[in-house]
Amino acid sequence: MAACSPLPPGRCHINLELSRTAHPLNSTPTPDAEPGAAFAAPMREALALAQHAIGLSDPNPRVGCVIVAADGHVLGRGHTQEAGGAHAEVMALRDASSRGAHVQGATVVVTLEPCSHHGRTPPCADALIEAGVGRVVMAMRDPNPLVAGQGAARLAAAGIEILDGPFATKAHELNVGFVSRMTRGRPWLRLKVAVSLDGRTALANGASQWITGEAARSDGHAWRKRAGGVLTGVGTVLDDDPRLDVRLVRTAKQPLRVVVDSRLETPPAARIVEPPGPVLLYAAAENGERRRGLEARGAEITLLPSPSGKVDLAAMLADLGRRGINELHVEAGEKLNASLLREGLVDELLVYVAPRLLGSGRGLAALGSFERLEQSLDFRIIETTALGDDLRLLLRPR
Ligand SMILES: NC(=O)c1ccc[n+]([C@@H]2O[C@H](COP(=O)([O-])OP(=O)(O)OC[C@H]3O[C@@H](n4cnc5c(N)ncnc54)[C@H](OP(=O)(O)O)[C@@H]3O)[C@@H](O)[C@H]2O)c1
Repeated sequence: MAACSPLPPGRCHINLELSRTAHPLNSTPTPDAEPGAAFAAPMREALALAQHAIGLSDPNPRVGCVIVAADGHVLGRGHTQEAGGAHAEVMALRDASSRGAHVQGATVVVTLEPCSHHGRTPPCADALIEAGVGRVVMAMRDPNPLVAGQGAARLAAAGIEILDGPFATKAHELNVGFVSRMTRGRPWLRLKVAVSLDGRTALANGASQWITGEAARSDGHAWRKRAGGVLTGVGTVLDDDPRLDVRLVRTAKQPLRVVVDSRLETPPAARIVEPPGPVLLYAAAENGERRRGLEARGAEITLLPSPSGKVDLAAMLADLGRRGINELHVEAGEKLNASLLREGLVDELLVYVAPRLLGSGRGLAALGSFERLEQSLDFRIIETTALGDDLRLLLRPR
């Protein structure tokens, strides 16, 4: 099985055939390791399975599950399906049952605490109790502070052993958006830009397609795929007429496309208003005629004015959280980027650097000029990856 990057953009390749071997449950624990550390191999496989839920399970978290017999043989595997469909644990139980495997007393290795509440599907904890499994190893607890620990408590009350498993950080990163929505009520905001070596995102006349090469562009689509929403500003709509859908990689569903457009200047004929997928515009002032034109094309419009007469960006993120958007992928111009950065709403920068110089032009963010270096916005680099001729940087605010 290929290793996953700590922050997989949905391109982590896994080979299920290779993983059909028994997992050596007791091969690698160190003397002071937690008991759950013995389940590193099946947890690694569960994490790889969870990758298959990217672009499928939103707004539900991406979860993978492997059921292991006492001798380490895998009895069943599963991952979360589309919202309203089966969760990972139920899929793994079904897989075991379809092979005629008995799971009584078996160990369930799962990337997230099994749910204990009735949502669109019955609680996974109940399904595991009913199946008679003996132990549940989980990489992380439910991030929702209101329900965290309840799934584990329910399992423990039924006599099932509970262990905290390894790879909590990887499990968290896979669901960084779900965690954000559960704990902060808003999506994880990832701001993507393609820049030249001299930091330009467009020529002075607005032309920016394409600064980077093919590999970087299809990688960008993989990141769009993992987001529930892709957002831009009206300036980019007017300059580039982008579609902002997922085309260069396969996906089961399209993200919600969002435009920040104070005065509803998006032309009804803009490509972003065309299918596939829903479109939502946030505006700051009503304009009946423009509203009717856009709504006639299927766009939804929400008014969220700030005191300055623009769209209230923090309120917009809260609204997107209520709509179930876990990860928000932003591809906007320097004005909207600057507003998001100034308001401290950016959780991550995804920067593709092309080895070319564009001369004078537009920047990553129109932040104005600073007087002192201490006023700069500082980031730490999380990951660097070469993609064709370009370089991909992943950064988070310090
Ligand atoms: N290289 C890249 O990665 C990349 C990606 C995307 C775009 N671009 C380039 O960026 C250029 C467009 O940049 P842009 O700065 O004009 O467009 P933009 O940042 O995409 O959109 C800016 C507009 O958003 C509206 N807005 C509404 N509420 C806002 C708020 N709270 N804060 C900030 N803006 C708000 C503003 O309209 P109001 O003034 O009406 O409020 C503003 O004019 C194009 O040339 C495009 O090619 C490059």
